[in-house]
Amino acid sequence: MILGFEDYQIQGRQLAETSGFPFKLIHSHRFPDGESRIRVPTELPERVVICRSLNQPDSKLIELLLAVRTLREQGVQHITLLAPYLCYMRQDIAFNPGEAVSQHIVGNFLAELFDSVITVDPHLHRISRLDEAIPGIPAIALSAATTMGEFLKEHSQQPMIVGPDAESEQWVRAIAEPAGFDYAIASKHRLGDRQVEVQLPEKDFTDRNIVLVDDMISTGQTLIRVARKLKSCGVNNIDCLVTHALFTAEATSQLHHAGIRHIWSSDSINHPTNAVALAALLATAIKDHQ
Ligand code: R5P
Repeated sequence: MILGFEDYQIQGRQLAETSGFPFKLIHSHRFPDGESRIRVPTELPERVVICRSLNQPDSKLIELLLAVRTLREQGVQHITLLAPYLCYMRQDIAFNPGEAVSQHIVGNFLAELFDSVITVDPHLHRISRLDEAIPGIPAIALSAATTMGEFLKEHSQQPMIVGPDAESEQWVRAIAEPAGFDYAIASKHRLGDRQVEVQLPEKDFTDRNIVLVDDMISTGQTLIRVARKLKSCGVNNIDCLVTHALFTAEATSQLHHAGIRHIWSSDSINHPTNAVALAALLATAIKDHQ
């Protein structure tokens, strides 16, 4: 059985339909003071999958804690977290004394709560395996690259894929190489939440159809800077495709304003830019790992 919350129920129900498992909602009520009341379904099987993406994660993590403890009290034996976007994976070291290493802390929290975790393209930088962040339980990182590559074959003509920084190379190559697309990787220096500098590699971008690829857009500043540089190189057009559409409120309009024509994302996070459905990938994963 797949259990979902209202904020990600469209994708949860699609997953249930694709996988052939039943779907039930976990009800969450937010009190005026910000606390949550959680109500899980009754008549549950021994094994369930909770499908919820963990963007805007802080209240969601508490709600998962309340839901999972309640499910266990109801006799559920095995609980998988299927979080297409997994939060808090970026801070993997303390850059300054006293900083919380959130990847480690949140990873351990999930490892204690769940029996297994499945996610898509987690942002792992200094580690290579998800079970280094979520220790002691099966922790599975799926890749949306094949699905995204198939999408681009249909929606873009002989694109050149451009990644904004060294970390993006893993996603760019996984999309570009099987599809036979050209690719280039820029370099990035982050100065603050909304301040980044990028440098394009030596390459002829003239008249190319560019698709910027990254794992996520948050403020959009990373891809905006790359798009601005590419525009001055005489490219034909610029689109972008990301796995996780975190998007601050003003990001979409600013990306278009910077000259990005189509903004596409996977539905790992519910967002108006969603163009690539992950239901088939996720359905295969929950069948393989049950
Ligand atoms: C960081 O390395 C990530 O891969 C993204 O490039 C970054 O999080 C995007 O953030 P923003 O859209 O705020 O520039």
